[in-house]
Amino acid sequence: MADEVVKRVRTRHFANAKRDGVKITGLTSYDVLTAGIFDRAGIDFLLVGDSAGNNVFGYDTTVPVTVDQLVPLARAVAHAVKRAFVVADLPFGSYETGPDEALHTAFRFMKETDAHAVKLEGGVRSAEQIRRIVTAGIPVMGHIGFTPQSEHQLGGHVIQGRGEGVTQLLADAHAVEESGAFAVVLEMVPAAAAAQVTAELSIPTISVGAGPECDGQLMVWTDWAGLTTGRVPKFVKQYAQLAQTLEDAARTFRAEVASGVYPADEHSY
Ligand code: KIV
Repeated sequence: MADEVVKRVRTRHFANAKRDGVKITGLTSYDVLTAGIFDRAGIDFLLVGDSAGNNVFGYDTTVPVTVDQLVPLARAVAHAVKRAFVVADLPFGSYETGPDEALHTAFRFMKETDAHAVKLEGGVRSAEQIRRIVTAGIPVMGHIGFTPQSEHQLGGHVIQGRGEGVTQLLADAHAVEESGAFAVVLEMVPAAAAAQVTAELSIPTISVGAGPECDGQLMVWTDWAGLTTGRVPKFVKQYAQLAQTLEDAARTFRAEVASGVYPADEHSY
């Protein structure tokens, strides 16, 4: 989508990208500074993901993060962008009891953050929630395959849609499309299964570890930029090594303060 002259990315640009075979790019963002950088670089959409639970708040999973914690992050991201489409994630426990709860949470994000859309996990099981939110005029991005909010039920970070699992994956994908979502994230799905979903759906598929045939690619920015320390999933390509860069900078700062190199005359009033 980056080469298309677009003032502000809208849901129709996602549809156009699929129609024209132009790839869509997305990164997560949780703050004003990274949102501004990714927006200037032409990233098409920014997801204020519930992965903030891990990457901002330090939880082991996305399960504990709340709407009250995500709202200020989504507001910061939405206010930082000029072009990118901002999607706010509905956290675990904020939409599962039914369409009314889902719509109430979606209203909160739209009214309190200026995000442009919401995302929620689940295919068949979330179809009524998606339908209700879309009917109220709020764009929804679906999320199927590996759904991190259900990781305890799924038995950890397990690839979905393998073997006979493709039947459930396809049912979920069609349920999301039929409910009115404008796009769907496929997370940790074999490339062949994701290719089949992409061929069968008229809405764009966004890969998080679902191979090259999807209509777009999304990564968690802290993994993508090498800020995450320790193990990252196989599908992550690290485009920078920020953790090492920052650690080196901190060591140099500490040494220069100790030796009196910093502050120099030009840093003093
Ligand atoms: O919260 C998040 O970062 C996500 C992506 C992994 C899709 O939901």
